[in-house]
Amino acid sequence: MNKNLLSIKDINKQDINLLFQMASELKIRRKRGEKIIHLLDGKSLGLLFEKLSTRTRISFEIAIRELGGNSLFLQSEQLQLKRGETLSDAAKIFSLYLDALAVRTYNHDNLTKLAENSSIPVINALSDFSHPCQILSDMFTIKEKVGKLEDVKLTYIGAGNNVCNSLIYGSAKTGINLTISSPKGYEPSSGILEDAQKINPKCKIKLLSNPIEAVKNADVIYTDVWVSMGEEEQKKARLNAFRDFQINEKLVKAAKKHVLVMHCLPAHRGEEITSEVLDGTHSIVWEQAENKLHAQKALLVLLLGK
Ligand code: CP
Ligand code: NVA
Repeated sequence: MNKNLLSIKDINKQDINLLFQMASELKIRRKRGEKIIHLLDGKSLGLLFEKLSTRTRISFEIAIRELGGNSLFLQSEQLQLKRGETLSDAAKIFSLYLDALAVRTYNHDNLTKLAENSSIPVINALSDFSHPCQILSDMFTIKEKVGKLEDVKLTYIGAGNNVCNSLIYGSAKTGINLTISSPKGYEPSSGILEDAQKINPKCKIKLLSNPIEAVKNADVIYTDVWVSMGEEEQKKARLNAFRDFQINEKLVKAAKKHVLVMHCLPAHRGEEITSEVLDGTHSIVWEQAENKLHAQKALLVLLLGK
């Protein structure tokens, strides 16, 4: 396993499978009532967050605690970073006190800078470019539900954003058959699609602008918010551009009969997904959210365990 997880590009297929195996074991042990599993006794995880978070923050904090370690929530606003201390100096200091650092930031370059100047593992807990922990956990969920990833037809409806970028890399690594449907002007960048092709020349990733056509024969439909953190000033234009890209009953009916519906959450009910679908029988979003805890535990063990 590489020292850092900044992107799904950093993790090979063998380690992805190891992570799934470990997540599955840790999930079973927690359900059995084993509250503390002493795999990371005494280890400290710092969480350096510049943006809001519910799931990622809580699941990382509980993950390290249930493995015998502890966490420290660090809002960048309250650190000397706010007064101009450089990221590279801060990274050296984090490395003196902590065993790993999970970072949620706007600019992905901040993550790169922290990783380059840290002697401890740096984990991307979301940047404008990618959300690898989310997609590792989501692929674990799909594997649990469908039994495999290779050739599973997953249709992502929405913006070519951080979550979509990680799905692209995740699909290239695992053989998921990915279709992306985005409004014109909001597609994933061609550079990322080319990058995925380089990682796996046989990867199956295509763009289809018509969402109804895109979900045909889908095993899984995945969506994310239309307005990501930091894009609030574009809200009006985005709500307008995305209005035909909602996950609703009509769209679900156009996919396979037992299609699974996923959303990384938080959801904006009535925008990218209707309440009917989110709370309906196809939705697996709550278990998807739960699995962030198990998958991130596994990731921490892989990065920090002996
Ligand atoms: N899915 C996800 O990352 O949720 P949070 O923003 O609440 O962490
Ligand atoms: N694309 C969303 C994901 C939130 C988990 C955002 O960046 O806000």
